[in-house]
Amino acid sequence: MIIAQITDFHVRPPGVLAYGGIDTNAMLRNAVAAIARLDPAPDCVIATGDLADCGLQEEYEEIASTLAPLPMPVFVIPGNHDRRAVMRSSLGVRHRYLEQAQQFFQYVIDDFPVRLIALDTVIAGETGGEICAVREAWFAHALGQGDGRPTLVFMHHPPFKTGVPAMDPMMCKTAPSFVDLVAQHPEIERIVVGHYHRPIVVRWAGTIGFVAPSTAHQVVLDLRISEPSRWALEPPGFALHVYRDGVGIVSHVVPIGDFGLTHEFELAPDYPGQT
Ligand SMILES: [Fe+2]
Ligand SMILES: [Fe+2]
Repeated sequence: MIIAQITDFHVRPPGVLAYGGIDTNAMLRNAVAAIARLDPAPDCVIATGDLADCGLQEEYEEIASTLAPLPMPVFVIPGNHDRRAVMRSSLGVRHRYLEQAQQFFQYVIDDFPVRLIALDTVIAGETGGEICAVREAWFAHALGQGDGRPTLVFMHHPPFKTGVPAMDPMMCKTAPSFVDLVAQHPEIERIVVGHYHRPIVVRWAGTIGFVAPSTAHQVVLDLRISEPSRWALEPPGFALHVYRDGVGIVSHVVPIGDFGLTHEFELAPDYPGQT
């Protein structure tokens, strides 16, 4: 099974640039085209929040039409830039699984060899996120209904620390019981998130925490204390989480762009270092 993860599109209304200069809409189109070209095709796509930049209906309509060419199911969750009500009214028709979601956009996709559990970390009006008691109780119930199959949990805000001073203050707040819950379920192969706009991997609560790069702008890696986050147009990307029997889940980061032709590793007989 192949799961493509795209995140943090920050789409704006048609013709409008994000942050005064980033064509996030064109960058999402590039991401969708890159996924559509993959052979073998992914079985599904997960989109881990900050789909819109300002939570506007026009932005979700742009997102819906940009994602429409993808032939496989696409599963979305909100990020701090999204607005649940607008997301539901604008995307709900094409994303029927959202009917499972009540107050929070949490749902289980049980159709694949890997179980997918979506968690909603959004606190309206705040940059950081949380898993409150209600959301944690739902998660415990969802895990309890599993059959031990490998499980991939996806959410927008990371519940784990990265050690990057400007990032950790806007992580997902959780209770100690949430950490214990994850640790008690070794079938959770990954917790995959967005929000930080660059690839990061950590070990946490007995599983692997993974942050995917944005399809648009990246957050510059800065390990200094007291420096505010800055963005840059480092290569955009997406992730492929590939599950194989006997291997488990392997996560790949795929840059998006035109990198020229591919080449075979053919060397001339006199190329140095071959003997
Ligand atoms: Fe974002
Ligand atoms: Fe975010």
